Amino acid sequence: MKPKLHFTPTKNWMNDPNGFIYYKGEYHLFYQHFPYDTKWGTMHWGHKTSKDLVHWQDQGIALYPSVDFDRNGCFSGSAIEVDGKLYLYYTAIVYNKLNPKNIHVTGDTFIASQAMMISPDGKIFNPETKQVVVPVLEEPLGHPTHTRDPKVWKEKDTYYMVLGSQYAYEKETMKGQLLFYKSQDGIHWDYLNAMKHPELNSNMWECPDLFKLEKAQDYTLIMSPENILRDGKNYPSHALWGWVDFDPSTGEASLKSELSYLDYGLDLYAPQTNIDKDGRRVMISWLRMPQPSEDGKWNGLFTYPRVITNHDGHLYFNVHPNIESLFTKEIDTITFDEPIKISVEMNENSKINLGGYRIWMQDQALHTSREQVFPSQGTLFNSSSPIGTHFHTPKVGDTCHIDIYLDTQVIEIYVNNGQYVLSNIVYSMTSDINIKNVDHLKIYQVNE
Ligand code: FRU
Repeated sequence: MKPKLHFTPTKNWMNDPNGFIYYKGEYHLFYQHFPYDTKWGTMHWGHKTSKDLVHWQDQGIALYPSVDFDRNGCFSGSAIEVDGKLYLYYTAIVYNKLNPKNIHVTGDTFIASQAMMISPDGKIFNPETKQVVVPVLEEPLGHPTHTRDPKVWKEKDTYYMVLGSQYAYEKETMKGQLLFYKSQDGIHWDYLNAMKHPELNSNMWECPDLFKLEKAQDYTLIMSPENILRDGKNYPSHALWGWVDFDPSTGEASLKSELSYLDYGLDLYAPQTNIDKDGRRVMISWLRMPQPSEDGKWNGLFTYPRVITNHDGHLYFNVHPNIESLFTKEIDTITFDEPIKISVEMNENSKINLGGYRIWMQDQALHTSREQVFPSQGTLFNSSSPIGTHFHTPKVGDTCHIDIYLDTQVIEIYVNNGQYVLSNIVYSMTSDINIKNVDHLKIYQVNE
């Protein structure tokens, strides 16, 4: 069974969300896609559209390798509207050496330039409109291989681009950095500045996104630094958020706060945000899957769209109202056949078992375990890495309110109305259901 309300590829592989935009009355969501298998390979941009962020229509493939500068893949990027047209920005990949056994993964290293394509209407994607906008970089400015994921936005009359990149810090130690560019027309770009923060133990910062929230003095930075969690138990790379002082006139930027996890289930990666129809800041994120779906046909899932708000310097993440408002039919028993929402007050004696997925409170934090519903062996990006089964939020006090959203293969838990979120991919849930010592239990289904 496929999740009914979560965004998944129609078939085969999907990773990062790309080019998320509300354009000409519709949401467009592109995604990193390998159309031939349930594993990562030569990157294409899959494309779906939606009127409401709930129902999505598959629009086929928008971007695929077709010219010399993107012949080995179209990596992640973003979209903006310019004079009624849709501009797509992506990272164009060329392998330095082909892998003779599999042309879909590199045989050695690769080079990356930043490219764009112009679509007149969000329906026609003509490969002849492709052009390079930021050529392959040379050190010390940026790394020729590890510079990617253009996120473009407009502020006043100027367009800005932020790229994730890498630089040699000292004695060949590589560190992550951001590179800022600006443009008057969205086509010709000038380098502005770099943001570094060597205190963060990461060799490469992927998928950056910088934006200004209402009531916030600073900019919010979201990014996915590689190899920050080196505990040998969990995925090493994770999406983080923090506050940044950014000067649009010079592109000077510096981190003003600690960086925090966007999601404490540690599956979430490569999120991207944009403004919805009503001006909310909405984030869509990839949940990594170490194996194909239970039916073996697809791999990769996006969280429900989340609305980001700022409360006294802390970011809250909540399910977008278009999804949240569907769950109005109160039911008595939990079923795993349909998407459900379970709302409950937890205390230190509470214990929940949902089909083998366990939730409890300990030391004033919310804990979960997917040990019984997760494969012990998994691979990601063709290489095996450890993947955790036990997670917890920061301390929230002796009790907390949680909203659990369950849809085949995915569980998202929103703690205290979005103060923290913990989401996990699960496989083959059992029929066990046990809920003990909780208050105000309510179960909802979609009211159709
Ligand atoms: C993040 C990422 C991006 C890259 C893309 C390739 O998951 O590694 O940095 O553009 O995936 O698929």
